[in-house]
Formats: sequence, structure tokens, C-alpha cells
Amino acid sequence: MTTLSTTARLAIVTTLCQSILWAADSSPLSSETAEPPSISALKTAFADHFLMGAALNTKNFTEKDAAKSALIKKHFNSITPENALKWGPIHPELDKYNFDQADRYVEFGVKNQMFTIGHTLLWHQQTPDWVFQDAKGKPLDRDALLERMRDHIQKVVGRYKGKINGWDVVNEALNDDGSLRQTQWLKIIGPDYIEKAFVFAHAADPEAELYYNDYSLELHAKRDAAVALVKKLQAAGIHISGIGSQTHAGLDRPSVQEVEDSLIAFGQLGVKVMITELDISLLPNATQNQGADVSARATYDDALNPYPDSLPQEMQEKLAARYADLFAVYIKHADKIDRVTFWGVTDGESWLNNWPVRGRVNYPLLFDRANQPKPAFHAVIRVATESKRAAQPK
Ligand code: GLA
Repeated sequence: MTTLSTTARLAIVTTLCQSILWAADSSPLSSETAEPPSISALKTAFADHFLMGAALNTKNFTEKDAAKSALIKKHFNSITPENALKWGPIHPELDKYNFDQADRYVEFGVKNQMFTIGHTLLWHQQTPDWVFQDAKGKPLDRDALLERMRDHIQKVVGRYKGKINGWDVVNEALNDDGSLRQTQWLKIIGPDYIEKAFVFAHAADPEAELYYNDYSLELHAKRDAAVALVKKLQAAGIHISGIGSQTHAGLDRPSVQEVEDSLIAFGQLGVKVMITELDISLLPNATQNQGADVSARATYDDALNPYPDSLPQEMQEKLAARYADLFAVYIKHADKIDRVTFWGVTDGESWLNNWPVRGRVNYPLLFDRANQPKPAFHAVIRVATESKRAAQPK
């Protein structure tokens, strides 16, 4: 079990108390302001370890808010589009592609020299029904769907060849018990749809890194299935560069030990390991769902929304300690980890305000609703500083 030493924890708590005092007047619902310049940059603090990334929404990459743009450029050296490259937004109809948003996203990444991720080519969500149907609304056969998949991948990956550095080729193909998810891709094409997607993506841009991405990869059965999937592709000589562990976490799940076990298992595959969608929900579980199944939904109830106005100090500290524990294990296994990406930039924009219950106020990220670094931010920076200090010769 990897946790921080008592000294490291004490140091974090001291920093926390200072930053809580400093941030005391930035209520979660206050307006956005610029971050103070004296704050360390995440990407610099972790430069010796891995890239630091964030998922961006359209407002972020079209730079609608100058303070937010400055924050993104200062802290992150990798970006992922929250929605712009998913099948639904980019290819809503058979003969219609909407490249506008994706072009702006890629432009932002290239201009700011950020490691730019394409997310995602194949998923069972946010994919229109027409993809799986012929002109009469009847299910396509295997060959026709494969051809449609090849064409989509060729057009999208081909358009951003040399600009998008890595692709989440297949997202969430596994169930928690390790079996293949019964998606239309699986039902119509069969299990080799995964291999085909990687082959098509590699043909469209042989230089791009190609990843398998999923949530709850800390569950034993799912971890083993992901390992088997990567091995199967490798044995077939198919190009796969990495595995993305989404890591939509809670305060006590997954355990640090489970996170570490998965990092080790994936590291042994000889592919890059990435944390791709990191956030930590602080709200009560509203469904049986422990992972990030976007179709899980529950009805709003005040009891499920305990911090509508601000986050109590005790919870700020819990979040900070949890982030510190996760980053301690990431640094310990930094030889395997290539990138840590947060799913969003500030709390106000997080999907966790609306999933699985609409209209809650959640606090899952390192920056608050006014763009200010939270105690969790300082805790994460502190872990990096402590590790540098520990590595220095005495
Ligand atoms: C999954 C997907 C992401 C995003 C999140 C929640 O994890 O991979 O693209 O949709 O759900 O929003």
C-alpha cells in the first residue's frame, strides 16, 4: 500500500491550511478571476515525471475566457477534447462531417505546442443510430459496418495526421466483469472490431500513438481483460501504443493499492500507461454504479447535494489528501506513466455536476469555479516538490 509519509502529510496539511485561508472568499459560485502569478505550474512541477493534461470544452479551446485560457496554457502541456471529436458531434449524418470545432481544438493544441489527443474513434455512446443502419433503417451487415468504420477513421484521423499525437481508438469496450460490452460494434462486426479499428487508425496515420481507453480498470476482472486485450493485439502484430485508465474516482474508490496493481500490470505490457480522465467526486453515490457509465441516471434529491454553496474545509482536506495519495503512487510508477489528464479544468465545468444526477454542485478538480487553485492543487504540487527533494543526494 503506497501512502505518504507522516512528514509529507503534515507538510501538505500546513500548505492546505494556508491555501484554505487564502481562498476563503472564493465561493464556488463566484465569478471567474485570474489566477495569481506566483502559483507553480503543474506541468513544470511534474516535468520530470509525465505530461499533465486537461480535457477541454469548446469554450476552453476557442478561448472565450482569457483568464481560463491563461490557466490552461500555464498548467497543461497536453489536451483532450471533451466532445469535439466524438462520432456524434463530428459526423452527425452519413454524408455530413462537422470539422469546425475539432479544427479549432487541434489549432489550439498545435499553437500552444501541447501533446494533442484525439478522443475517441469508437464508443458505444455519443454515436448516432444511423451509423449502424442502412438507408431503410435496417441493421448493416459486418462488411458494410466495417467499411463505414474504416471510412470514418480514415477521414477523421487522416485530417489531423501529424497534428493529433495520440488517439483513444476504442473507448470502453469492456464490462466490469471483463467480458466484451454488447455494443452494436460487437453485435454486428464481432470481437475483431477492436483490432480492425486499430488497423484502420494506424493506416490513416502511422506516426500517431494509438490507445485503448476505459474506466474502472482497477477492478481485477476488468484489469485482466484489458491486459488480455492488449496482448492479443500485440500477438497479432497490431500497433497499440498505450492503455488509458480513465480514473473517475471517489474518495475511497479505487483503493491506492488497486491503482498501483493496475499500473504494474499495464506497465508489464511494454506499452505507455496513461491516466486519462482523472476526477474525484465528493458527492454521495446516487446509483449502484461505481464506474463512469454515462447512461447511469438518478433523480435529484437535496440529500444527494450536500454542498450547494461551498465545500466545507474538512472536505477540502479530504480531497487534497486523496489527490496527494494518488499522485504519490503516480510518481512512484512514473517510469510507466506517460501522462496524467484531468477530465476538465475547473469544478464549475465538470460533467460530475450533472452525472449521474442533474443539477448538483460537485468539486472534483484542482481549480475552483473562480479559476483559483484549491487545497488539492497545492497538495499535488507538494507531492512533486517532496519527491524532488527526496531524490536529491544528501
Ligand atoms: C467517459 C468518456 C468521456 C466522457 C466521460 C464523462 O469517460 O470517455 O468522453 O464522456 O465519460 O463525461
